[in-house]
Amino acid sequence: LLTDRSYTERCVKRFLEPFRLSQKTLQDISSRLTQDMIKGLGRHSHHKAPVKMLPTFVRATPDGTEKGDFLALDLGGTNFRVLHVRVNEDEKSVLKMDSEICAIPQEIMTGTGEQLFDHIAACLGTFLEKQGLKEQVLPLGFTFSFPCEQKEIDKSILIRWTKGFNCSGVEGRDVVQLLKEAVRRQGDYEIGTVAMVNDTVGTMMSCGYRDQSCEIGMIIGTGTNACYMEEMCNVKRVEGEGGRMCINTEWGGFGDDGSLRDIQTQFDLEVDRSSINPGVHIFEKMISGMYLGEIVRLLLVKMTEDKILFSGKVSEKLRTSGAFLTKFISEIEHGSFQRILSDLGLQWSTADLRAVHLICDTVSSRSAQLCAAALAAVANRIRTNRGLDHLDTTVGVDGTVFKKHPTAELRSMVHKLAPKCTLKFIVSEDGSGKGAAMVTAVAQRIAAQCGYCVLGQDTQHPSFLQLLCL
Ligand code: BGC
Repeated sequence: LLTDRSYTERCVKRFLEPFRLSQKTLQDISSRLTQDMIKGLGRHSHHKAPVKMLPTFVRATPDGTEKGDFLALDLGGTNFRVLHVRVNEDEKSVLKMDSEICAIPQEIMTGTGEQLFDHIAACLGTFLEKQGLKEQVLPLGFTFSFPCEQKEIDKSILIRWTKGFNCSGVEGRDVVQLLKEAVRRQGDYEIGTVAMVNDTVGTMMSCGYRDQSCEIGMIIGTGTNACYMEEMCNVKRVEGEGGRMCINTEWGGFGDDGSLRDIQTQFDLEVDRSSINPGVHIFEKMISGMYLGEIVRLLLVKMTEDKILFSGKVSEKLRTSGAFLTKFISEIEHGSFQRILSDLGLQWSTADLRAVHLICDTVSSRSAQLCAAALAAVANRIRTNRGLDHLDTTVGVDGTVFKKHPTAELRSMVHKLAPKCTLKFIVSEDGSGKGAAMVTAVAQRIAAQCGYCVLGQDTQHPSFLQLLCL
């Protein structure tokens, strides 16, 4: 039995070898991302850059004096949510007054854009009705967690869908316009000024109310991405040299030009091939919740077919794509998983149990290490931008993959790859909802400081368009 067990273990380890990345490789990946970030920021090179480095028109983080009532929409994570948020200056708090989750059925996620936005506007209408807010015209922060070319804070063109979404007629269009048209079609309520926010930006901004040194926002959830405060003089696509602007890196697209081919395993290639957007968001497909479970499933199938696991018997269920949920990985890492395997129709030995544990550990650890390499690139960039010997900064983080997995590995790897940076992590609670309200609130504060307080009243006032680009 012992020989059997160690034989299985040896075979499994051999299989997992390509998933183990040395510190030197991670360092190299971090440097490649740094180069791609520079490409993405360039006036001429950005068109072809896989890492898009999108200007967000957010130029100020909270200063603690923001206040007011806001609506927030959050689309692009696991659920679509509508929120009523109050920013309370006295308590320095962002309160979620109420919120509601609206399911987005699969057929809407891959249907027409009009169906999607009608569904969103209908959910918002029902929420306002229930909250007794239908007569008010509140400013709205829209967390839309997809890559958008933002022209202004309230003009945001979808570059492409990611994760499970693929609605026709939205790519290349202004999402704010589509939302406003859908609200108009509902016909029985109005919304105030709209501010568009990526979830990374929302996360950074909501943590920024508590900790004003929060200058990085990171998501490791259904998808993965980060934003950070970049020097305006490096943002060649936007006029103006002074101050800083938050850049949405869209690091999920790292590798879309083939630059990560050397570390993609046959399982990564297969996950990409069978996804709804092959060739797109290669880095994200090695890291985030939408894909990790599928990588593990493919590994289990292959190792069983090669007679290393489960006495060579692959169950029908295990052959079904999507059958191994990403949340199983953390459940297995935490120890109890016989039920998961029997639900998958598998019969196991003790050696199988140890092997499954090792597989899950390896896949989630690679995800953490790749994120660390990317985060190190961002932190190092901020440090060198500012000519500092040492950078102390805070990262606002959200996403189930981050929250459900041990983070020690990510933290220690960032430390190794960016030794001159000390990063403090704040886990954001509801960052994308509250953060969208926060962006809108900062906009309102800046407008008020400039003597215009127009949010929610005069939506066409030109000053609003400049609120966050002073
Ligand atoms: C999107 C990003 C988003 C990330 C995390 C990615 O697929 O392109 O805009 O921030 O997922 O939700």
